Amino acid sequence: MSRNQQMLASKIGLGTWKMGSNGSDEAREVAALQKGIDMGVTVIDTAEMYASGGAELVVGKAIKGRRDGLYVVTKVLPSNASFKGTIQACEQSLDRLGTDVIDLYLLHWSSSHPLQETVNAFEHLVEKGLIKQWGVSNFDPADMQELYSLENGANCAVNQVYYSMGERGIEFDLLPWQAGQDVATMAYCPLDQGRLINDERLRPLADKHGKTIAQIALAWIMTRPGVIPIPKSSSVERTADNVNACDIVLDEEDMMLIDQLFPKPTGPVPLKAT
Ligand SMILES: NC(=O)c1ccc[n+]([C@@H]2O[C@H](COP(=O)([O-])OP(=O)(O)OC[C@H]3O[C@@H](n4cnc5c(N)ncnc54)[C@H](OP(=O)(O)O)[C@@H]3O)[C@@H](O)[C@H]2O)c1
Repeated sequence: MSRNQQMLASKIGLGTWKMGSNGSDEAREVAALQKGIDMGVTVIDTAEMYASGGAELVVGKAIKGRRDGLYVVTKVLPSNASFKGTIQACEQSLDRLGTDVIDLYLLHWSSSHPLQETVNAFEHLVEKGLIKQWGVSNFDPADMQELYSLENGANCAVNQVYYSMGERGIEFDLLPWQAGQDVATMAYCPLDQGRLINDERLRPLADKHGKTIAQIALAWIMTRPGVIPIPKSSSVERTADNVNACDIVLDEEDMMLIDQLFPKPTGPVPLKAT
């Protein structure tokens, strides 16, 4: 049984980057997240970095009174990732989220603090019951090897990285390695931050399924085992569209067309980051 069974039970998650930046958008952002939750999405991704804690506050409002069964993910900034700094950052995130426990706590990207210190802090937070699992983000294969060489490094449950139809580099090395280690992949920027939705080459596929280009892009990521896309939308309608992508079944012909339009990598590709 995968240690990521609870997270991967949700075929899609809700991203929150850029939420919480502007108070006048808050009600809309909360409504969008609650729409996703009402439609059955359980995974919500945020970070202390987003709007300097503002996105965590939005998530806190969205999950208030409906926390049970949700899988809340947040991230510590690398600059805070010392032993003490990680614990302090986690306590502040818990406050903003209005919850007693974070389901998954990630190191946002590689830090200048020793990685072993961050891992020790994560393990301490698990022991204290403040987080359930921990992981990393923006780690390339060499970073993952380094992590796995550390004490308790193999307890890393997840690596959250850029992955979309247009950015398939991780399929060459990182994705198969992670699958072998039971490290789940959270696919960020699954819509290439909105650029993919304008790729008219996907129009015939969208028309064939009676769906939008964005929905086809998300449905494709959902075909990858051990991977969950976390698109962000501040709109109730677009959030509903994204969740409805879960029903699309792409056939062999569709997958071949996508491979022609967006070829698989044939060698190592540097990890893309935002
Ligand atoms: N770990 C990391 O370093 C890292 C880095 C980047 C992102 N992330 C996480 O991953 C999440 C997703 O990445 P992202 O937000 O950068 O990019 P994304 O999800 O690929 O794209 C978001 C953009 O697409 C638009 N959009 C969403 N659904 C749409 C739809 N159905 N039709 C048309 N447009 C749609 C959104 O606009 P509207 O809001 O107006 O709908 C927004 O402008 C983030 O929110 C964050 O939680 C993590």
